[in-house]
Amino acid sequence: MRAAIFEKQGFENLKIKDDVQNPEVSDYDVLIKVISAGLNPIDYYVISGYRTIQQQKEKEIQLKQKAPPTSELPTNPLPHIPGAEFAGVVEKIGSHVRTVKKGDRATIYNRVFDNTCDMCIRGNEMLCRTGGIISVVNNGGFSEYVSIPERNVFKIPDNIDWNISVSLPVSGLTAFHALKEAQLKINDSLLLFGASGNTGMIAVQLAKRMASRVIAVSTKKWIKEEYGADYLITDYNRVIDKVKEITNAKMADIVINSLGKDTWKDSFSSIGINGRWISFGTMTGSNVELNIQELYSKQIKLIGSNGGNREDFRELIEFVSYSNTIGDPFKIKVWKRFNLENIEQAFKALIDKTREGRVLLDINKE
Ligand SMILES: NC(=O)c1ccc[n+]([C@@H]2O[C@H](COP(=O)([O-])OP(=O)(O)OC[C@H]3O[C@@H](n4cnc5c(N)ncnc54)[C@H](OP(=O)(O)O)[C@@H]3O)[C@@H](O)[C@H]2O)c1
Ligand SMILES: [Zn+2]
Repeated sequence: MRAAIFEKQGFENLKIKDDVQNPEVSDYDVLIKVISAGLNPIDYYVISGYRTIQQQKEKEIQLKQKAPPTSELPTNPLPHIPGAEFAGVVEKIGSHVRTVKKGDRATIYNRVFDNTCDMCIRGNEMLCRTGGIISVVNNGGFSEYVSIPERNVFKIPDNIDWNISVSLPVSGLTAFHALKEAQLKINDSLLLFGASGNTGMIAVQLAKRMASRVIAVSTKKWIKEEYGADYLITDYNRVIDKVKEITNAKMADIVINSLGKDTWKDSFSSIGINGRWISFGTMTGSNVELNIQELYSKQIKLIGSNGGNREDFRELIEFVSYSNTIGDPFKIKVWKRFNLENIEQAFKALIDKTREGRVLLDINKE
């Protein structure tokens, strides 16, 4: 089969090969014919071996960078097929598979989990003690076929199209789980850094449907005009003043900052009394300084969030389908689509500062 594959991390080692062995399908597995895959920062980290994206600081994009001698995100197995987010059609099922059949459209819960540890038993599959992320600890979906355990395969209702189906496993689930972890409530003001991004555009739509007030920080106007953010802050250097103005100095009830170090200070200063700060990523770096006195005196809660569990995934699929049914459809802005052969251009698009929406790979025709 055709797949994007590397023998060693580093973009210079990423190749498209036609003779990659088809994956094995055990009795409990489902063979997925991949229709669509989404590009996310995690794929960039997996291929490059670096956990940050530097495009805002350097004029030349970093696609040709060499992987570090010791990877910040080691992958298994080698040679390795990346691709954390994908959806497709069931091609074949193992003899014990009961919940899907050949021809079903499916989206993939992208965590590896053992279903036996204390975290899994409590329903925290994404925190499994022996688990990890599909495409990091095993092969991912930038290939024609992927073999996946049945418990990771979720049927897609007919009213959810491929662009949305492929945006649920990473972008959608992460945004949904984070809003639940932050305990977003009616009338809460939510400040969202990088709101036009993959996770951001879904977080805005979910938060609006949960009746909160969304203050988007983004250079892209469409996140307010087309995606329903209530307020837009386009200047990353004026966030604190703007939040003060918008909230009458109360500041935000919830702040989502998954951009990391560069926006840490402003994000922390934008949290109101008894507010919650939440992150699921550190695109610009991880190490920051914290004023503990401010933390306790305002009774601020700092929250980490990581992916989501299968129950979140099921709820999200149902919620998106229901929104579509009642004429309030979820939207995914797609900026560019590429075939697998053009994966290098796809990654250039992913880290392009002027990107307006998602970058998707079309892999097989349905
Ligand atoms: N833990 C998990 O499960 C999980 C899952 C998904 C994502 N993540 C992490 O969450 C973070 C966001 O992911 P995402 O997929 O939403 O990313 P994304 O699509 O690249 O969006 C990030 C947005 O932030 C803005 N931005 C501002 N400064 C930036 C900078 N220096 N570099 C890049 N973008 C910058 C850009 O929007 P504007 O130009 O409009 O300002 C961009 O669209 C990443 O760190 C990712 O690794 C974690
Ligand atoms: Zn487990």
